[in-house]
Amino acid sequence: MEIDKREASERKLEAKVEWPLHGDPISQASLWLPLMMYRWQTEVIRACMTAGARVACVTPNESGKTSMVLPALGLAWMAAFPGSQVVSTSGVERQIKKQLWPVLRSILAPYPRWQITEDLHIKAPSVRGIPGSEWEAFTTKDPAYAEGFHPRWYLDENRKPVYAPLLIIIDEAKTFNDPELMFAFQKRCDPDVLLMVSTPGEDVGAFYDAFHKDKKAWKTFEVGWRDCPHLCRGVKLEKRLETIRELGENHPLVQSWVYGKFYRSGSRLLFDNMVDVEMAMSGTLPAVKGAGRGVALDFSGGGDEQVLAWRDGNRVMPLEIFHEKDAVKLADMWVRRFKELRVEATDIVADNGGLGKVCIDLLESKGFQGIQRYMAADEARAPEMYKFRVTEDHYELRERLMMQSVILPDDDKLKEQMRKRRYLVKNEENQIQIEPKEKMRDRGEGSPDRLDAVVMLLTRMEMKGMAGQHGATGTEPRKDARCGNWQECMPGWQGGATQEAGGAYWSGGGVLDD
Ligand SMILES: Nc1ncnc2c1ncn2[C@@H]1O[C@H](COP(=O)(O)OP(=O)(O)O)[C@@H](O)[C@H]1O
Ligand SMILES: [Mg+2]
Repeated sequence: MEIDKREASERKLEAKVEWPLHGDPISQASLWLPLMMYRWQTEVIRACMTAGARVACVTPNESGKTSMVLPALGLAWMAAFPGSQVVSTSGVERQIKKQLWPVLRSILAPYPRWQITEDLHIKAPSVRGIPGSEWEAFTTKDPAYAEGFHPRWYLDENRKPVYAPLLIIIDEAKTFNDPELMFAFQKRCDPDVLLMVSTPGEDVGAFYDAFHKDKKAWKTFEVGWRDCPHLCRGVKLEKRLETIRELGENHPLVQSWVYGKFYRSGSRLLFDNMVDVEMAMSGTLPAVKGAGRGVALDFSGGGDEQVLAWRDGNRVMPLEIFHEKDAVKLADMWVRRFKELRVEATDIVADNGGLGKVCIDLLESKGFQGIQRYMAADEARAPEMYKFRVTEDHYELRERLMMQSVILPDDDKLKEQMRKRRYLVKNEENQIQIEPKEKMRDRGEGSPDRLDAVVMLLTRMEMKGMAGQHGATGTEPRKDARCGNWQECMPGWQGGATQEAGGAYWSGGGVLDD
């Protein structure tokens, strides 16, 4: 039977969270988990064993938060305190449905008296006449919903009052930037223990603050790459080295995803190494003959610049700019050029947005059926990294430049557009996103039509006769720039599960004002 809060206070009942001997999550972990916990995982859990604890833990991706720390703590909590509650939430629904729940399901499979349901609810068996402990997981960001949880009191079968504490876990806490929501969790629910875990994100929000301005209120853990041995070998290591090589050491995704460091919020320059661009425009890189031809078309509604970009093998020829506003006349001019260049419809890629659609229809009606219609907002092939195909394609160009496998025309306007192009990484999705055109317009910048055309021209393009995607020129990737010795390029290497602030923040990387 439940005793309400008022009665509990009148009876001066003392709310105690006392772990039973051998019933704590560290002693119990081997019962629930298939793997031995790492030291930092044990330390985080130990910190959560004190009543009133407020614990924040930041780690690189795939360190073992969701699959190790959460189940070990949550299930032991439910088992140790009859009638207790675990409330867990994540900013990312996928995190719960695809990661946490399957793990909990498999752990609980041998215990049929523990009911786990698809609607994200677990109920433990009843003990001493007290209702079974519960775990509820949800993703809502509505503070009113988050407020609805409180510790409870029960009378057991001997009419002895039993305190049933509340544990709140916030997974991927970096996306919880709403102060009202945090207030609901921290203060209104008044949980006995509150744990926030996350990969780091931008240097704003409650999670970031827990390691900085609100540090006094939190026990903090900053876990580095090295603290997770499974990330330092095999495919996990290779993937990380590859990401460092592709994006560069200073990229916010590398800093957060690989090293576990917060990064400055704001936009950044996409072609941060203009030396690569200069090199591609210098006329000194080797051309690959017989690698096929391609054409890309970018349309501008205002009619300022209609761009036709074409390449012969890996050489992008001087861009052809048309100032024709009339779609019919433009289509005629372009059909003439296609014939001169001896390209077929399938060699042509054209922006299908706005005016583009009309123009492509016209070109098709003139015998060029099968033009590839470019949709910038399509999903990327690596959606875990890039928001929209167009972002991924800009990165593809960036990498081709890094590998020195493409020759660009010496075009000042193109260079200027490359110099100015920016990207963002937002906490919400933790994906790289090329800066939206409207934002550029707000800043008074023109549309980067020439760059758009070049990006489309080179996207996903298997250049016939080229070995692999990049290696055709026989040019080795530059040695100076990206990761040479992986241990040297791991700032996290000196780190460790420290409780010191500052370590998890990386401030480099040329953030730009809006
Ligand atoms: N203590 C450990 N020992 C061995 N492997 C571990 C350990 N902790 C985590 N892992 C590995 O890390 C993987 C990713 O863990 P996960 O909990 O999904 O990471 P996170 O939630 O931190 O992104 C697990 O599937 C497991 O293979
Ligand atoms: Mg996780």
